[in-house]
Amino acid sequence: MQDLKQIPAEPTDLDQYEIENNFHSWSFQPDRSPPRVVSAKGVRFTTEDGRERLDFSSCFVSHNIGHQDPRVIDAICRQARGLTSFAPSMSTKPRALLAKMLSEITPGDLSRSFISLGGTEANETAIKIAHQYTGRRKMITRFRTYHGGTAASMSLSAGDARGWAQESGGAEPVRVPQPYCYRCMFGLAYPDCKLQCVRYIDEVIELEGGGEKVAGIIFEPVTGANGVIVPPPEYFPHLRKICDKWGILMIADEIMTGFGRTGKWFAMDHWDVVPDILTIAKGMTCGYLPLGATIVRKEIGDHFRHRFFSHGATYAGHTLGCATALAVIPIYQEDNLIENSAELGQYLLQKSMELKEKHACLGDVRGLGLFVGLELVKNKKTKEPLTSVDAKIRPGSNPKLEVAKKLGELGMMAMAANPGNVIVMAPPLIISKDEIDEGVAIMDRALEVADSYTE
Ligand SMILES: Cc1ncc(COP(=O)(O)O)c(C=O)c1O
Repeated sequence: MQDLKQIPAEPTDLDQYEIENNFHSWSFQPDRSPPRVVSAKGVRFTTEDGRERLDFSSCFVSHNIGHQDPRVIDAICRQARGLTSFAPSMSTKPRALLAKMLSEITPGDLSRSFISLGGTEANETAIKIAHQYTGRRKMITRFRTYHGGTAASMSLSAGDARGWAQESGGAEPVRVPQPYCYRCMFGLAYPDCKLQCVRYIDEVIELEGGGEKVAGIIFEPVTGANGVIVPPPEYFPHLRKICDKWGILMIADEIMTGFGRTGKWFAMDHWDVVPDILTIAKGMTCGYLPLGATIVRKEIGDHFRHRFFSHGATYAGHTLGCATALAVIPIYQEDNLIENSAELGQYLLQKSMELKEKHACLGDVRGLGLFVGLELVKNKKTKEPLTSVDAKIRPGSNPKLEVAKKLGELGMMAMAANPGNVIVMAPPLIISKDEIDEGVAIMDRALEVADSYTE
């Protein structure tokens, strides 16, 4: 073995390690290293070649407060000098305080948290809690969704081609449609449809054994990576009634939509609906350190007061992670970031609508808060998708990857390589109007690549 402090670290060496020693997420393994990021500040990041780019994806919708906020970095350093982590069987001040803070900001009586290390862990926890609380195993999930890369979360990520390579495990999924009005699976149009997509869920629950067999339904309140699907206003109130009727749990995965992304603290706040279990991650620590949480309503929390809670992890309630969240979360309040997301989100949507008028490739534009999706089609009339559902897992380039590449060349990163035909714009919530104009102008040019594939 070589002297570990002397491993060569010139740029060419690092490039080689990227290619030979690293697994790259959700992709064919590249034969060239991606550009290396050396610094980031606010809404921009810089690569090793000295180029600065605009971050219009908030790093997979996590860096809501922007990059390298000194308030958070100071808090991390302070905590790291005192105590980085300790066994979860003991209490630490950051963990206790964070659990209380989460009960303050989350809807209704959501009040007891299990704090983990990220989004998929938060969902795995939610699934286990639902199984243990109800004693049932079936879980309703909606097509075109992503709940994370681990076994149970991926089984519930229905219609996301990233799950096709995997044996399903951990959950018994029952799949139902989304409220995807642009491509309604029932061929209906809102509002004449009378919310057939949610009435159908009622029927499916009955056919799957109702309250005897079905534990719950898991959903993204506004579907993220699979297409920024915003439900009609009546959808969640109606779904709440159905869940209550059958006695099944509503699990809102707000890993992407939480912490102001849609212009409210949590997307469910738009409809005044309290889920039974809420999962969060990304915006809770904004990527400064990894953290996730699963928060349950009081009744579920109380259920476990005198019963064995069969879940845990060495790094549950990680001290440094919790201290990071304690520094991040008040920034949303202090800097009015939720309000900024609501206000500038409308501006971003309006500018995106103007793009739709201009570009042959844009079939639909939709969004809520600073979370806007651009759906690519070959033909606006026929709505034929620009790429197939499985394009992401097929080798070679596709029109959407070409748009992503063009965005990079023009100096911006958006979520253009996610599944489905939608490019997601989700800049940090600290973004200004001028920066939105800058980003939309870049998107305008990059979309010309997709226009060239239209018929
Ligand atoms: C809605 C949703 N759920 C779960 C996850 C998984 O989170 P993580 O990547 O932190 O495991 C993601 C990640 O993008 C997500 O968007």
